[in-house]
Amino acid sequence: MTAKLSLFASGNGSNFEAIQQAIVEKRLDAYIAVLVTDQPDCYAVERARKHNIDIFAFSAKTYSSKETYETEIVKLLKDKGVELIVLAGYMRIVGNVLMETFPDRIINIHPSLLPAFPGLHAINQAYQYGVKVFGITIHHVDAGIDTGKIIEQDAFRIEGGETIEEVEEKIHQLEHKRYPETIQKIIHTTLCKKK
Ligand code: GRF
Repeated sequence: MTAKLSLFASGNGSNFEAIQQAIVEKRLDAYIAVLVTDQPDCYAVERARKHNIDIFAFSAKTYSSKETYETEIVKLLKDKGVELIVLAGYMRIVGNVLMETFPDRIINIHPSLLPAFPGLHAINQAYQYGVKVFGITIHHVDAGIDTGKIIEQDAFRIEGGETIEEVEEKIHQLEHKRYPETIQKIIHTTLCKKK
């Protein structure tokens, strides 16, 4: 099967790119039907253009509420037959409208070993705390901030003396490897069964 994904991003979009790359290299049986972004000028948009991927860019402040813009997004995703929503650096809290339409079909990646260091600047939080084992978490999205059920984690140990930039680089490498692999697993387990 070829699963229809929607990627949600607000920034650089390196995970979006890694997922698209995995699709091109046939490591991931999927298709990105649309990139959704709340930051029309973010770099993820440029990446999507380069790959000829449809873009839905919105500005939250032009809508009266989260429900209003999410209702528009839901209509678009349904029209496109999207089966799985993949958050990749999407900086908004997902609301009820999306969550109720796509129960268990929204996943996120977070750059720490949850439940440690949820929320913003997770790598910096962990680094300042002095942790020795860094990692990433892929999880279901629920109403909380980085609180949904964990799907996958991976970790590495630092020897000491690494700069935060070096740690960040390693975390991103791990994300770019594990996110496509995990999506592939979800497609061939959960999505297949429910079809
Ligand atoms: C990643 O570190 C991800 O874990 C977090 O936001 C960052 C997004 O990076 N949720 P990018 O936009 O994919 O480069």
